Amino acid sequence: MIDYANEFEGKKVLITGGSRGIGAATAQRLLDGGATVAVSARSRHEQTPTNASFIQGDVSTLAGATAVAEEALETLGGLDILVNNVGATTPILPGIESISDEEWIESLLINFMSAVRVTKPLLPALRRSRSGAIVNISAGGLLPFHGFLAHYGAAKAALDSYTGSSAGELAPAGVRVNLVTPGAIATEGGDDGRKLLATGMGITVEQLFGGIPLRRIGTAQEIAETIAFLVSDRASYITGHDHFVTGGFGDLA
Ligand SMILES: NC(=O)c1ccc[n+]([C@@H]2O[C@H](COP(=O)([O-])OP(=O)(O)OC[C@H]3O[C@@H](n4cnc5c(N)ncnc54)[C@H](OP(=O)(O)O)[C@@H]3O)[C@@H](O)[C@H]2O)c1
Repeated sequence: MIDYANEFEGKKVLITGGSRGIGAATAQRLLDGGATVAVSARSRHEQTPTNASFIQGDVSTLAGATAVAEEALETLGGLDILVNNVGATTPILPGIESISDEEWIESLLINFMSAVRVTKPLLPALRRSRSGAIVNISAGGLLPFHGFLAHYGAAKAALDSYTGSSAGELAPAGVRVNLVTPGAIATEGGDDGRKLLATGMGITVEQLFGGIPLRRIGTAQEIAETIAFLVSDRASYITGHDHFVTGGFGDLA
């Protein structure tokens, strides 16, 4: 029988980019379920859960990502759950011809290599856990991103492929690896990007949501709930899958 109220008791969790937005909501959801949580970011924000350990670091560099992973192991004394949530982008219109070499590399570093570099030093601990689980936060499944976010889409698509390889390689050790692909979610990062995009396209932010079958933007808590399910024992037979939480956008609807 699963004790749903305390289902994460005894679980040690690291969430990158957990100081605000989807990461902070996920940290709060797992804390509410009894987990011990560390969040990493470059700085604390108003939404950063006060009952989580805070690890300061920039995961867009190898040294920064490695230091975050090492401090998490030291702080938590092991690891059961890793959420590679960090990601960022700035829309660049009209598309591939205007994206500089530097911008392509920056997007790969923050949206893809951050997950690769944070995960690697944590794998021995996750293999030792009896219920190791990783969730990588994507958007790549919503490709194409032509006209404004090609650099972001390409980096997230690399993350999708890496997640599949990780799931296959870690399955024999019982470590499950899944992707969550959020749709348009109300967060500071998401809202800033959409404002820039709407301005560049000469439309309103509301017009950007016209194609969402559920006719609204999502909340960080709705993504957190999906992540909580995937890292829980309730999802013990689910690995290597991309879970769309998009209000139906890009999906069957
Ligand atoms: N919101 C959406 O509509 C949406 C849609 C699809 C996918 N996603 C994905 O969901 C994830 C979370 O997005 P969000 O909207 O919650 O973003 P957000 O509100 O911008 O939060 C991003 C988090 O990452 C941290 N961060 C950013 N750059 C960092 C760096 N170089 N090193 C360390 N930490 C860094 C931020 O803190 P600091 O700035 O203090 O470091 C913050 O805690 C991202 O992977 C994003 O691509 C979001």
